[in-house]
Amino acid sequence: MPALGKHRGMTDAPPLLIVWHSCTGGSEALARAAAEGAGNAAQLVAAGDVAPDHLHAAAGYLFVGPENLAALSGAMKEMFDRCYYPCLGKLEGRPYATIICAGSDGENAQRQLDRIATGWRLKRVADPVIVNTAAQTPEAILAPKAIAEAHLAEARDLGAALAEGLAGGIF
Ligand SMILES: Cc1cc2nc3c(=O)[nH]c(=O)nc-3n(C[C@H](O)[C@H](O)[C@H](O)COP(=O)(O)O)c2cc1C
Repeated sequence: MPALGKHRGMTDAPPLLIVWHSCTGGSEALARAAAEGAGNAAQLVAAGDVAPDHLHAAAGYLFVGPENLAALSGAMKEMFDRCYYPCLGKLEGRPYATIICAGSDGENAQRQLDRIATGWRLKRVADPVIVNTAAQTPEAILAPKAIAEAHLAEARDLGAALAEGLAGGIF
């Protein structure tokens, strides 16, 4: 399994960069599942460790994170804030997909991410995935998340499809 947050040499970077952030483990499990599906084609890097070079070196992206306070989580947003201008104009046309882990909604984080991706002129190549963990009380929200196997399988399939699409040059 690829190491979380590992910064590989940029010259041999795998084509698919999976950027993830997670507070209670749900998004992390989904990101790991997607990486498993993509195999050697994926590099899994925590949002806080992502540098513009990671984004430049990859051919496509999967962004995985929670919706917090009707927005992208702070760490995911911070990654975009830090990398947006260094990458602007350099990623145009590259494919991307998303998985949002939410307690009840997820749509606002989804929209926010899509707006940023539109600024970079990325191309969405898979339908948005929102995984609802039904965490709505403070206790449930703060508890570690166990993601149902069906959602992990969906994430694995998405990782595999992105890897295949990148390898086959179909995006
Ligand atoms: C501070 C905070 C704010 C949250 N706000 C929302 C929200 O606006 N909409 C929503 O659907 N879920 C919200 N949630 C619930 C999380 O999205 C949910 O627990 C999700 O499964 C967390 O994913 P993670 O385990 O990857 O951190 C919030 C959680 C926290 C901690």
